[in-house]
Amino acid sequence: MTMEVLLRSPLDMHIHFRQDAMLDAVAPLSAQHFAGGVIMPNLVPPVDTVDRLLWYTSEVKRAVGNHRFQPYMTLFFRNYTREELVAAKPHIIGIKLYPAGATTNSENGVREIMSMKHVFAMMEELDIPLLVHGETHGFVMDREQEFCEVYRTLATTFPGLRITMEHITTEAAVLLLDEFENLRATVTPHHLIITLDDVAGGMLNPHLFCKPIAKRPEDRAALLAAALKPHPRLMMGSDSAPHPVDKKESAGCAAGVFTAPILLPLLAELFERNNALGSLQAFVSDNARRLYGVEPPSTTVHLVKEPMTIPERYGNVVPMWAGKTLSWSVRSVE
Ligand code: DOR
Ligand code: ZN
Repeated sequence: MTMEVLLRSPLDMHIHFRQDAMLDAVAPLSAQHFAGGVIMPNLVPPVDTVDRLLWYTSEVKRAVGNHRFQPYMTLFFRNYTREELVAAKPHIIGIKLYPAGATTNSENGVREIMSMKHVFAMMEELDIPLLVHGETHGFVMDREQEFCEVYRTLATTFPGLRITMEHITTEAAVLLLDEFENLRATVTPHHLIITLDDVAGGMLNPHLFCKPIAKRPEDRAALLAAALKPHPRLMMGSDSAPHPVDKKESAGCAAGVFTAPILLPLLAELFERNNALGSLQAFVSDNARRLYGVEPPSTTVHLVKEPMTIPERYGNVVPMWAGKTLSWSVRSVE
């Protein structure tokens, strides 16, 4: 008998949809499988005014078309006034903070995080979650671990502020989750599967190059253990980040792994291999619903253990593991 799994309203809590032709190409690839997702604001220019937020929301909804998919929008963190925060609150799930220059399109990010305490205080008061790209400007392998001190300070100084450590990649970040009730985290499927060896240990693989960079085997083991339980404050956020092939297969490779269309088969394969299929529902939906208090459209995704060969391209974007065959596939979405 074919193995199968039913998932109710899966959510991707960290996605890059971009804009224009790329948005049109990638939004349906998330919306075909997911009932909702958190849409990141690092456009050029960033989504950092209420006007631009409302424009981008309508763009995303247009690109999603008839799929039952709820976009949970974010603003790009800057020195907002209270009036701006109040006006934005009904339209967002949180505000995403990028340290300046940490990753793709983050040049307008924050230079001195602790100079923004007044904004964090207002977000705490208004109960607007803070989503964080947690990397310092230190040595690339140490950036997230170094940033844990910033998380610690934020979590202690603003105990009522809900803080999401986005796309965690280290054992240090997993341990930090248990220290503070107001910290939660997303983790990407690719960081549960690869290490730096897969990126740069042999022939360089630009399609696995992302920020934060994949780390050591012991980091991956800690992340995977937390996901398989799953840890009650850990959510699946893919950080699926499309770049045109010429920006990846080039000198000066852009950071980002494109996984949107393969996420659920990839996760089913990983969780089955680790005898943890029973944890998948909490990891891809229930934890996020509880932590953010959201009620996504009701969908049921039927996954079956039947092979799926990953396409070489989706338009001009190369997905993770292009050409490889996964042992699970999506049979239907109702
Ligand atoms: O690898 C990444 N790509 N990490 C990020 O944080 C941003 C993303 C992108 O927007 O391409
Ligand atoms: Zn991201």
